[in-house]
Amino acid sequence: MEKQRAPRNRTITISENETDIYSENCISVSSPLITEEIINKIVYGDAFEVFPFLPENFIDLLIVDPPYNLNKTFGNSAFTKMDDDAYQLFTEKWITGIKSALKSTATIYVCCDWKTSMLIGGVLGKHFNIQNRITWQREKGRGATRNWKNAMEDIWFATVSKDFVFNVDDVKMRRRVVAPYKIDGKPKDWAETENGNFRDTFPSNFWDDISIPYWSMPENTDHPTQKPEKLIARLILASSKEQDIVFDPFIGSGTSAVVAKKLGRRYAGIEYERGYCALAQKRLEMAMSNPTIQGYTDGVFWERNTLAFQQKNQRLGMPEQCWIDW
Ligand SMILES: C[S@@+](CC[C@H](N)C(=O)[O-])C[C@H]1O[C@@H](n2cnc3c(N)ncnc32)[C@H](O)[C@@H]1O
Repeated sequence: MEKQRAPRNRTITISENETDIYSENCISVSSPLITEEIINKIVYGDAFEVFPFLPENFIDLLIVDPPYNLNKTFGNSAFTKMDDDAYQLFTEKWITGIKSALKSTATIYVCCDWKTSMLIGGVLGKHFNIQNRITWQREKGRGATRNWKNAMEDIWFATVSKDFVFNVDDVKMRRRVVAPYKIDGKPKDWAETENGNFRDTFPSNFWDDISIPYWSMPENTDHPTQKPEKLIARLILASSKEQDIVFDPFIGSGTSAVVAKKLGRRYAGIEYERGYCALAQKRLEMAMSNPTIQGYTDGVFWERNTLAFQQKNQRLGMPEQCWIDW
């Protein structure tokens, strides 16, 4: 039965009929691929069965959001919690499966919760050069009664070699200036605008300006662990160039492909749930008519709820209930 949704709910849904239509755009793989055959494609299949057929040296940026080590239902499939050793082996398996597909200049980002972070970091360090670990503060859920509420995730940043892309100027953050310090009457490192005082700052490895997708946001889907477009945009802008290939082996609702497309990159990915493959295709089609990314405008990432950003939203025709989530 179809879910009843609040009138302001902007969640992207997909009907059975649409699933049949959109899943036609996905490909199945049973023999070795050349790069052109996988560019801008979502492969419908089990990642571990697809890996042996991937071309060598074609990925510029690998974004991995694997199932965390929890009992979780993804559409008609279920991921079952394992013991730590088994989860490390699972991590080792996808890394070795995909390694030859990476270019020598590739960057790798891997999303984790606090528990899998401890396991994934160790395995990742055996194969790649770890550059950093980003902590994303994200609010979700009511909290635990006998433990601290989980309000963060990690994103490991690793590279294949010392030769890698990092476009720091493309991922600056526009923050409100708290102490408007002036020299000779002129703002020092900040700008006075009619909407307030702002400074563009270098991003740190602590990200507290990104919310999870909410039902009132136009990017939201019914995928249970969808990543925010703003978060993926920051990874892609920092660590790839236009036309580079962004690959995601557990692509879910297609966020990394959608954002790659919006930012002029090429993409490819794998997903074993047919409904999510179709959802990803639907989002990719929607991206053609709406390439905006909430929270990223004018080439900068905006602090949440800044006045200038709200005015920008108004001009873009975004409903007010969305602003709080940006
Ligand atoms: C954590 S979610 C990724 C969510 C994604 N980042 C997004 O924004 O929608 C992991 C996804 O991997 C898929 N998955 C799990 N195991 C898989 C496998 N062996 N092969 C392909 N897909 C798999 C699940 O169906 C799920 O959609």
